[in-house]
Formats: sequence, C-alpha cells, structure tokens
Amino acid sequence: MCGIVATIGSREVVPLLLKSLQRLEYRGYDSAGLATVMPGQLHCRKAEGKLVHLREKLEKSPVAGCCGIGHTRWATHGKPDVRNAHPQLDEADQVAVVQNGIIENHRLLRQGLEQQGVRFRSDTDTEVIPHLVAQALADLRGTAPPTDLLRQAVARAVEQLEGAYALAVVWQGQPGELVAVRYNAPLLIGLGEGQFFCASDTPALAGFASTIVSLEDGEMARLTPLGVELFDGSGQRIQRTPQPLRGDDYTANKRHFRHFMLKEIHEQADVAAAWVERCLAAPADESLATVLRNVQRVQLLACGTSRHAALVGAHLLEQLAGVPSSVHYASEFRYAPPPLMPQTLTIGVTQSGETADTLAALTIEMERRHALEPNVPPLMLGITNRADSSLGRLVPHVLDLKAGVEVGVAATKTFLGQMLAFYGIALLLASQRHGASAQVKACRQALEQLPEQLSRTLHAMDQCCAELAHGFAETRDVIYLGRGINYPIALEGALKLKEISYIHAEGYPAGEMKHGPIALLDQHVPVVSIATPGPVFEKVLSNAQEAKARDARLIGIGPVCGDTEIFDVLLPIPPVHELVSPLLTIVPMQLLAYHVAAHRGLDVDQPRNLAKSVTVE
Ligand code: AGP
Repeated sequence: MCGIVATIGSREVVPLLLKSLQRLEYRGYDSAGLATVMPGQLHCRKAEGKLVHLREKLEKSPVAGCCGIGHTRWATHGKPDVRNAHPQLDEADQVAVVQNGIIENHRLLRQGLEQQGVRFRSDTDTEVIPHLVAQALADLRGTAPPTDLLRQAVARAVEQLEGAYALAVVWQGQPGELVAVRYNAPLLIGLGEGQFFCASDTPALAGFASTIVSLEDGEMARLTPLGVELFDGSGQRIQRTPQPLRGDDYTANKRHFRHFMLKEIHEQADVAAAWVERCLAAPADESLATVLRNVQRVQLLACGTSRHAALVGAHLLEQLAGVPSSVHYASEFRYAPPPLMPQTLTIGVTQSGETADTLAALTIEMERRHALEPNVPPLMLGITNRADSSLGRLVPHVLDLKAGVEVGVAATKTFLGQMLAFYGIALLLASQRHGASAQVKACRQALEQLPEQLSRTLHAMDQCCAELAHGFAETRDVIYLGRGINYPIALEGALKLKEISYIHAEGYPAGEMKHGPIALLDQHVPVVSIATPGPVFEKVLSNAQEAKARDARLIGIGPVCGDTEIFDVLLPIPPVHELVSPLLTIVPMQLLAYHVAAHRGLDVDQPRNLAKSVTVE
C-alpha cells in the first residue's frame, strides 16, 4: 500500500511532509522517509518502523528545502528495513522517487539495468524507477528544454513500467520542480496558498490545500512554486477544474480512551443514532429508490471486514426483500466474474473506498456492462466511509456511511455503518416490493431502539470483556460459531481477534463444526458462540453443547434466558429481533478482541503487517 506525499512552494517542506505522512500512516508503517532538494543538493532521511523514528532521525540530522517528497511504507518487495525504505535514489544520489503500488516487470527491468552496470542498493521494485529516470535525463539532456527535462525523463521511465503505481520524483538538477504520475493507484493534487502538493489521499492535504484535482490513470503533473500543470498520457497539456477539499476533521484524538479502536467501538452508538435520524426517520432517499426500482438480483463485491458486512447485507436482501444476492471476494471476482444477468445491481463495499481488488472488480463489472449496453448507466452502487475516494469517482451512486474518521486499522464503527447501509437498502427494497409488511415494520421498530441498546451494551460489555480477556493470556486458538445472519459476525469476531491479538481464530457456521473443525476442540480452545432467539436458536445451543462435550470453554453471546445458561460465560445483549441482532452481537466480539490485544500489550491501533487501506493487489 504505502502513502506518498510531495510538496513545493514558499515554505520549508519538512514539517509539512511529516504532518502529511502522519495522516497517511494508516496506509502502512513499516518504514518512513523523505527527501528534499535545493540547488545542487539532495538530502534524504529514512528510518525503519513508524514515523516517530524518522522524526527522531530528523531531529538529530535536520534537512532543509522548499521542495520535497515523503513516504510511509507497507512492505511488498523487500524487508521493512532502511535499505528498502523510500525514497529510492539513483546511483549518483541525484534523483529520488517515492512510490505506492507494484512494478510488476521490475525483475526484467532490473536485469536490463544491471547488465548495463547499474548497481542496486535495495530489494524494492521501486528502485528501477530512479535508475530509469537518471538514464532518461542523461539521454534527453540537450534535446529537451531544461524546464521540461524532468517531466520528459519521468515520462520516458514510466513508459517502461508495468503494474500499478503512483509516484513522485525530485531531481537535484531542477530543484524548483517535482513530477508526479498515476497509474491504477490513487494520487491527488492539492492546491494551497503558494504551496502545491500531491498525495495518496485527502487527509494528507487537509489544512494545507483548499482545492484538489484528481489525476486519472496515465496522467502526469508538474508542480513548481508557481502552480501545477497537468499532462495526459501523450504529454499534451490538459485542464481540470479543481474541487473543494472537504473539511473532514482529520485531527481525531483519543479523548479519554486508551486506543483509537476503543474510542471507535464506543462511537458506534452515535453512528447508529445518526443513521436512524438520516435514514429511518427521514423520507426515503429518492435517488437510491430509483436505483433499486427494477433490481432483480444483487451481487456484492468486497474484501475483509467489508465482505462480512456484505454477507449480512445479502442475508437481509434475501430474507427481508426477497432479492437473490451473492457475495464475492473482490480479489476472486476480478479474475473469474460470474455470467452477467440482466437487472443485477452490483454493490462495491469498502470503508476506505481505495481497496485495489474491490476497485478492479468494479471496473471490470463496469466495462462488461458498458460493452453490453453502452448507453445505459451501469446499475452499480458503492458503500463507503470516504465518498471522496476512488470508489466515489468510479460508481454512479454512493452511500456515504458518515461514520467519521476511523483511525484504528481494525475496522469497527465502519463495519456497523456498512451493516446499517444494508438495512436501509433492504428495507427500501422490501417496501417497494411488498409494502409495509409485518416483518418490515418489526425490523424498523427494532432499529429505532438500536442507539439506546447499543449504548447500554457498550457500557455493560466493556468491563465484562476486559475481565474475560485475562483468561486469554495463554490462548493460541479460538473458534467462533454463528448461524444465519450471525454467521458473518462469527467471521468478523475471528478476524478482529486475529488482526490485533495475533491469536489464531476461525469463524464457522455453527452447524458445520461437526463436519471437521470439532477435531480441534479440547480444554485449551475456547468457543465463542452467538445464540440469539430465532429459527436457529435451539440448533446453535445444540452445537454449543457438542463443543462443551469436548471440554471446550463456552463463551456465549446472546440474551439472558434459561437456555443461555449452558455457557460458561455469557456476554449478554438485550433481547432483540433476530434480523437486527448482528448490530448488537458484534459489540462483545469487538470488545473481546480489543481487550485481549490490549491486555497482551500489543499495538492495537496499528497491528503488525496491516494497513487500513490496501491499495495493492
Ligand atoms: C478490517 O479490520 C481489516 N483491516 C480489513 O479486512 C479490511 O476490511 C479490508 O482490507 C477491506 O478494506 P476496505 O473496507 O477499505 O475495502
């Protein structure tokens, strides 16, 4: 993934780069680095690990300059050490490059360069780029006008690249200029007062730029202290009207909470209250109603937690609205999409709006629809917490979760927001088809209670889960069980635990346990089982009994009642309509994962090897 930022103008750039990188750290935190250029000088500083280490290095060994580039890395090619940190430089240390993406033909390019005598100093795919730019600069010198030399050299270098990339380049030979290019990876240009930027995402620009321009694939930008010029893939100047930069509050703080994740879990009651007001109490969204009117089936594309929300969504769409629905891993769909059926609504679900697999799957879907019906707008919808993201620009309709900035890498309040979005869609579809059925009415009533129930559950559960977490000190494996609409919650509970506590966990439909996973059970493997009254309540309890008979410690999530006495520990939720229950059963799942990880002293908000926005394949 990685985050890149570059800026040029009248100000010293190091403080700006550091601030922007801090806001991009959600994209990776394996290493960080920056480079500045001044006439005849290029200075580069890099550090392993989080940005704080780069700051420390800069305090001991400061650099100056009004033009610079910065990078925060999520390692793909090469270990997360200083050698492989960006910026990557050419042999003469005159050209510096930061890149987000993957250069798929880097091996071939590297071989070619090495045969010409170029010495590589890293294992990264990126390092080919500064070498190619340096070669192009040498070739073009004397033929290209000096003011256009760097742009032409970068254009010549990127012609040779295959893959997906967003990159920014500086050269000490032209310190009043930096060049940025995008291909299948996000890159925005930010326009401030006498200061110009490019960055992977808007948070890096907030407070620095008032307007933004989004680069399209193959386009290039030249930034100077006087402004920004845009070029298309053939090198022709293009014009694009800047859009105002939304004033989101990216200065989120933890308030009294120990971690952002805990704060964000607790914010779910507010997310629900805002949703009830916006989507339940207000008249139906007319444009969404129009999109849904003739839909005959729905296919959902997503990854990770967003896919779990999509599974809840598919259940609702089928059981509440009677619309056949299928959920696909976006990464699988993009290489094997099922045959396209008429009147199929495709929904892309991604909190970040930047997940490469989801965007690629949606793009494929868009292209094949366009090939079939060129003049019909594609029946496609996006669900995201970042309406200003690549997803927002790709699909014709977007449902904005409005959950507020989520800093914790493990998604929590955005997951709740995504599920709520599906309740909205399913209720609207159900009403369009069957009017106000008894089930629709019951569901709406249950949703009206949700903010208050969530708030109570959050407060009651926090302490319970903190105490329960002590018992997980030696735990190596956990099984999560759920059925029906709570099966995705079992998957999500297991994913949350894995992500932040590094404990192996698996989620299963409770009825599947006896078909294999039961072999894993003994007194060392706790089983977390979701049991909420509904058609499969008794079945879930029987499945839990089967686990208990194998000495597993049973942790139940469900209402307090005689039936739930079988659990060794019950994490109680209020009695609730089964179809609405995932919005509550998720709370103990998140809090348990959080407290287990916090108890182990782990970095809950930035767990190892992960990033909030996965912009590579
Ligand atoms: C969530 O906790 C995970 N970090 C991860 O599975 C995430 O849901 C996945 O990468 C998809 O992200 P998206 O919602 O931004 O597309």
